[in-house]
Amino acid sequence: MLAGRVRRLLAGAPSLSRAQVTLLDAAAANKLLPSSARQLTVKVAGADSSTVRLLDIFVIRDADGQLRAFENYCPHAGGALNMLPDRFFTRDGAALLCTRHGARFAPADGSCFHGPCAGDALHALDIALCEAGSVHTTMVALKDLCENGGGAYILREADSPEAQGPLVQRPDESLPPPRSRRARSYTTSEGQGARAPSSEPSTHQKLK
Ligand code: FES
Repeated sequence: MLAGRVRRLLAGAPSLSRAQVTLLDAAAANKLLPSSARQLTVKVAGADSSTVRLLDIFVIRDADGQLRAFENYCPHAGGALNMLPDRFFTRDGAALLCTRHGARFAPADGSCFHGPCAGDALHALDIALCEAGSVHTTMVALKDLCENGGGAYILREADSPEAQGPLVQRPDESLPPPRSRRARSYTTSEGQGARAPSSEPSTHQKLK
């Protein structure tokens, strides 16, 4: 059984449930060289059955060969760390970099050691490695990241075209990038810039 062959990668993370989600198959994981990353969009169930969340994450292999995964959300001003697809490492491969204001993060745990959010950290995603080499997480861990992370997802109707794709996919350039929590504004009947309703997490985008 798959769950029995899964090796835990991140100490202290909650137990993986049976609801496995394959982030990278063995071939894709093997192609991930040290100090490189792969950006993914994962479809996560919304708060109700009529919506889905398209969550932006990235999986890395650090310089020591260890695999990790993080929400693509900078704790400084919010939003994605990278400007170019899959580009998260500094040139020397020793750190993760937010290209917006230069924050640097330790690949081992996502802690920021340099820049405007020093002392803060990226939100890690609990992952596991199958003996065959594929990389997994769980829907429980993904939902937890949506609800307790920075909010690097967009909300879509479950029957929208974007929600019809595979569970895990490469980022779709036609989708708007997740927006900054601090910069995010909403267009409502009250006009542009109104605050999100208090019953809705502030990181949600308005449904289209
Ligand atoms: S938004 Fe990442 S360093 Fe400012």
